[in-house]
Amino acid sequence: MARPRITLKLATSLDGKIALANGMSEWITGEKARAEGRKLRARHDAIAVGANTAVLDNPQLTTRIDGEEDPVRVIFDTNLRLSWRSNLARTAKKTPVWLFTNVTTGENAEALEMQGVRLLKTPLNDGLDLGFAMSFLHEYGIASLLVEGGGTLAASFLRLDAIDVIEWFRAPIILGGDSRGSIGDLGLENMNLAKRFNRIEIRDLGDDLYERYERIV
Ligand SMILES: NC(=O)c1ccc[n+]([C@@H]2O[C@H](COP(=O)([O-])OP(=O)(O)OC[C@H]3O[C@@H](n4cnc5c(N)ncnc54)[C@H](OP(=O)(O)O)[C@@H]3O)[C@@H](O)[C@H]2O)c1
Repeated sequence: MARPRITLKLATSLDGKIALANGMSEWITGEKARAEGRKLRARHDAIAVGANTAVLDNPQLTTRIDGEEDPVRVIFDTNLRLSWRSNLARTAKKTPVWLFTNVTTGENAEALEMQGVRLLKTPLNDGLDLGFAMSFLHEYGIASLLVEGGGTLAASFLRLDAIDVIEWFRAPIILGGDSRGSIGDLGLENMNLAKRFNRIEIRDLGDDLYERYERIV
């Protein structure tokens, strides 16, 4: 299947957590790591997040770098939970928002479309069908996709062996087992089935560590 090259960006604690149990995630990493994260966005055609991240964080998902074009913002939102008042919707006429969903009718759907959000009716297959979404993105010119989380969406791409690169920013803090994990369930029953990557870069970013991994094919 033709699909974009897919990079997973992780900004985690030492114990691989991306948010507190209450959803709070600002800020885990320091300013240098966050600046690198914004540059990473600028190097991709599109950025994707799951519905929980879109609703809980109310992000803009822009680069905030002068002179850089913002990537298309891609949301996976089965039941159209994203509000037409969200930061993503309010900025959709300036920077595209493509929302894969199973619901394309109703008041919120109309309001989101009025704001300029593109609703893409998507079949279900263990959540929204990511195979369908990846083919669609490829067909519409998205050659590189940055998956920014959360853990549930990251796990779905990993289950399909669709993560080619991991860019990992790791802060020297520990958030504990009741916090939210960077990768959701994979359902592995044998160590041979573990998702394997080669580390190809490692460097300090202030107090944080940056690591880059490529999938072993
Ligand atoms: N530190 C960081 O770098 C970072 C980055 C991103 C997020 N976060 C944090 O992570 C937390 C959210 O993560 P999360 O794991 O709860 O949720 P998530 O991955 O952001 O969103 C998951 C939701 O996306 C929707 N979805 C639709 N199709 C899917 C598919 N095929 N596979 C997976 N999900 C699909 C589902 O909701 P519906 O059924 O409603 O569609 C699913 O529950 C937030 O607290 C956020 O702050 C941290």
